[in-house]
Amino acid sequence: MSTDVFPGIRLYLMRLVCKQSVLTLKELLTGCLSSQIKKATRFYVKAIEKSSPLPIISQEEVTRHRSLKDGVWVTYQGGVYDITEFVSIHPGGEKIMMAAGGAIEPFWSLYAVHNQEHVLEILSEYKIGELKAEDLKKQSTFKSSDPYSSDPERHPALRTNSLKPFNAEPPPEILADSYITPTAFFFKRNHLPVPQVDPDLYRLHVEGLPRGVLTLSLEELKTRFPKHTITATLQCAGNRRSEMNKTRQVKGLNWGFGAIGNATWSGAKLRDVLLAAGYGPDVAQWARHVQFEGLDKEITGSAYGASIPINKAVSEEGDVLLAYEMNGKDIPADHGFPIRVVVPGVVGTRNVKWLGKIVVSAQESSSHWQQKDYKGFAPGIDWDTVDYKSAPAIQELPVQSAITTPAEGSVIDRSEEMLTVKGYAWSGGGREVIRVDVSVDGGKTWKEAKLKSSDKEGDQTSPPLGRAWAWKLWEITVPLPPEAQELELICKAVDNSYNTQPDTFGPIWNVRGLLSNAWHRVKVKISEDDDEE
Ligand code: MTE
Repeated sequence: MSTDVFPGIRLYLMRLVCKQSVLTLKELLTGCLSSQIKKATRFYVKAIEKSSPLPIISQEEVTRHRSLKDGVWVTYQGGVYDITEFVSIHPGGEKIMMAAGGAIEPFWSLYAVHNQEHVLEILSEYKIGELKAEDLKKQSTFKSSDPYSSDPERHPALRTNSLKPFNAEPPPEILADSYITPTAFFFKRNHLPVPQVDPDLYRLHVEGLPRGVLTLSLEELKTRFPKHTITATLQCAGNRRSEMNKTRQVKGLNWGFGAIGNATWSGAKLRDVLLAAGYGPDVAQWARHVQFEGLDKEITGSAYGASIPINKAVSEEGDVLLAYEMNGKDIPADHGFPIRVVVPGVVGTRNVKWLGKIVVSAQESSSHWQQKDYKGFAPGIDWDTVDYKSAPAIQELPVQSAITTPAEGSVIDRSEEMLTVKGYAWSGGGREVIRVDVSVDGGKTWKEAKLKSSDKEGDQTSPPLGRAWAWKLWEITVPLPPEAQELELICKAVDNSYNTQPDTFGPIWNVRGLLSNAWHRVKVKISEDDDEE
């Protein structure tokens, strides 16, 4: 049971424990407490009981507990923990079972997000014993080498959301400075260590087609197929999660509005490669998905994976690329060297980096990221009730926009009289942004911003219908309202299906903080001119 769900109760019960309250266990459990309080109470009573010396447990005994049926035990720094009840509420899903019956340290060195005080606090609640000294000695011969030690260097200006695995976004105020996001500042979203790939030894395997496996070297991918270039925006499903998090706590990296970027991508069309591998009308009868596997792997050896619908993959106008260049250069290590899939209009997670394998299939990818993550749920669903099978995997993203300047909390000099507001806007599925509305008075009145389709002054060219893969930057200059001391700036975009953004996060809140696209609101202050003559 996660007591984090009930922080107030947790605090209250902790106080009870600390003060050695006169309430007895019976009184607590039979009083008019709700079942949730009862659960929390039982839990804390267990904690009190635990203050007596804990039993010594052998590794052999721990190893016997590696399933939900027999119980799930793990060891950490000499302690033994029964985490059976925690498995169903583990934010990373069933992956926790990899550690069942053994030491948790090797997994935490890979998923370094666990090295935080509150995680240790949660673990401590499940302690049931101490590991036998000689078994602990054997364990400590395990050397945990850092799997992230060969990750590439990154630009120091990036705002790091997690170091291992590396997740970072650019400083918000520079995001809309150029239409093409400089590669160094493009957000980086890694779930695992960056794999080291020797381009000469690299091979891409295309499987699932009647002609058997097609294996291609990097050179073959570059020379056997025509090179295509597209400009496409990539956005993580968790972009702007930090704003949704303020409405009600969600689980996930606390991204600002920079988990999005726009780049040029060059490579072979996935469609051309699939045709060369034998895709045709016969395959179209049964094939429904194209699965991708990365070369970045979990400790168990299972690879990062995702899939997209076959129609998107084989459509001439789908523009799905097996990209080997980003912004005119070899794709850098963090972004998928030597090959990544670019699925324009589709959520970042399906744009698999360090691509090792493509499988044409009747089924979606069975990976954790396709099945147990990156799905949207209703605001009433929480970790206790979420059923991942009940929702489809996110593919095309909804319409999005954000104000990049001025920054939240900026102070505007009244003597400047005019205020310029800038930002980005984009929509998924190739839907073109046709309008961005901006308000400087908290949504009472609106003005239309000027849209830019490149860095060229006044460029408003439209992409082909249904293939608007790239964002638009926008800008508006308005007079400062004479009386106001504070302004609430808002932007909202409209795409060519007339989809627009919801005004608040409440109705779109979801437990993982995904698809966070409510109106972007920025508060600024106006300073009075001090130089009164
Ligand atoms: N591909 C692999 N192999 N491993 C990953 O961790 N992360 C995905 C996707 N492709 C990921 C991956 C996610 S969640 C996103 S948002 C994008 O890559 C981020 O791409 P970027 O780091 O190039 O910005």
